[in-house]
Amino acid sequence: SLDAAREALGRLVRDVPDYPEPGVVFKDITPLLADHDGLAAVVAGLAHAGRDADGRPVVDVVVGMEARGFILGAPVALALGAGFVPVRKAGKLPRETHAVSYDLEYGSATLEMHTDGVRAGHRVLLVDDVLATGGTARATVDLVERCGAEVVGVAVLMDLAFLPWREALGEVAVTTLMSVG
Ligand code: PRP
Repeated sequence: SLDAAREALGRLVRDVPDYPEPGVVFKDITPLLADHDGLAAVVAGLAHAGRDADGRPVVDVVVGMEARGFILGAPVALALGAGFVPVRKAGKLPRETHAVSYDLEYGSATLEMHTDGVRAGHRVLLVDDVLATGGTARATVDLVERCGAEVVGVAVLMDLAFLPWREALGEVAVTTLMSVG
């Protein structure tokens, strides 16, 4: 249930002050991943975003973003009877890719997905650990849409409520299990 997922998040995510730099509080999910019941609860909670009101899966593919989106996205895909496709940082995928660049506070970042990763008409759920600025999720929506596929929604463990991810994602449906900040 979503309640079990939220209980696990509240109990097993650790705040790490001043990481990776002074003034930032890092949300460490490794204790959650290490706990079988907690991991199972949050995977089920994320998979909920890929089901209809009767609990039937409505997605063909789960796309997960490097790196924590890989850990969470693959079991969500299995739970939904779907496949898994990775979105990676530039230069990591071996075949032809689509690439999207986006602005960071300092500089820019590029994400890539194989051009045949998702197909036209596929229904796709995006999975990651955290929504902050929404830049990663926005770029991934663009990559999926470039393949002619449809984004059903974005599912994350946590959102940082003080950052503008909602604006970055426009009309895209967002499921977040916990709001922080
Ligand atoms: C973090 C996090 C999300 C993204 C969220 O990944 O896991 O993918 O940032 O931030 P945004 O909403 O502002 O884009 P990070 O870039 O640290 O990559 P990593 O998981 O490979 O370390």
